[in-house]
Amino acid sequence: MLKDKVCIVTGGAQGIGRCTVETFATEGAAKIFACDMNLDAMSDYKDRFSNIEAVELNVCDRDAIHAFIEKIKQEHGKIDVLVNNAGVTRDNLLDRMSEKDWDMVIDVNLKGVFNMTQAVSPVMIANGSGSIVTMSSVVGTDGNIGQTNYAATKAGVIAMTKSWAKEFSRKGAQVRANCVAPGFIKTPMTKDLPEKVISYMESKTPLGHMGEAEDIAQGVLFLASDRARFITGQVLKIDGGLVI
Ligand SMILES: NC(=O)c1ccc[n+]([C@@H]2O[C@H](COP(=O)([O-])OP(=O)(O)OC[C@H]3O[C@@H](n4cnc5c(N)ncnc54)[C@H](O)[C@@H]3O)[C@@H](O)[C@H]2O)c1
Repeated sequence: MLKDKVCIVTGGAQGIGRCTVETFATEGAAKIFACDMNLDAMSDYKDRFSNIEAVELNVCDRDAIHAFIEKIKQEHGKIDVLVNNAGVTRDNLLDRMSEKDWDMVIDVNLKGVFNMTQAVSPVMIANGSGSIVTMSSVVGTDGNIGQTNYAATKAGVIAMTKSWAKEFSRKGAQVRANCVAPGFIKTPMTKDLPEKVISYMESKTPLGHMGEAEDIAQGVLFLASDRARFITGQVLKIDGGLVI
């Protein structure tokens, strides 16, 4: 589904990002740049896939991002797909949430998406096509106790995405922007949640269980691919029916 495509996936070391990187690789992408702060955790890619390149990149580091995008422009002349997946949580009830934890989550989940998209979108617009898929969350559409900072970022990326869907398609460019909003997915991010929280969320989910990273990667793949060529400005919820 991604033949000849040059792709960037942030947060590509583990969880949903890793599954997305490997799905893109098996779907025939020409090149996938798996970007993460944790380079060591991506050391297996080069032995297993010839089309994945692991890149140490912090989505908060604007200078590093611009240098990286310049390098891709010179090597490939285009970027077809950007998946803004890197994300963090620093959960707490509002009255206990520190300014540091607020700032940290905003910096990575919201400004990191701004940084990456601002650097990549001109390359897509100049080429006349591209697909940007950003990881939101059902917490961004419906809120959650203890996630004021995280919810703000996941709602924010939806608003940014809808703005980009309108902005990037001016002058006829087929540059699409969409979000995926996962429900509760088994990844390192959720592995330390208390058992009672997991059972409660599963009981609220019509399909009765947590999702797998693969469930999300398949939605990202579809939106990234040309099969979704008339879809822009949308939020695809993949949550087992948790939020209907
Ligand atoms: N797991 C879930 O239930 C769930 C639900 C809804 C949304 N999401 C979203 O999906 C995305 C992936 O989640 P996950 O569960 O795979 O998380 P994860 O914690 O397993 O993986 C996140 C990856 O992002 C990387 N990362 C963190 N900060 C970074 C930075 N500044 N620059 C570059 N990389 C950075 C981490 O090193 C890690 O490899 C996140 O945006 C998350 O908010 C997850």
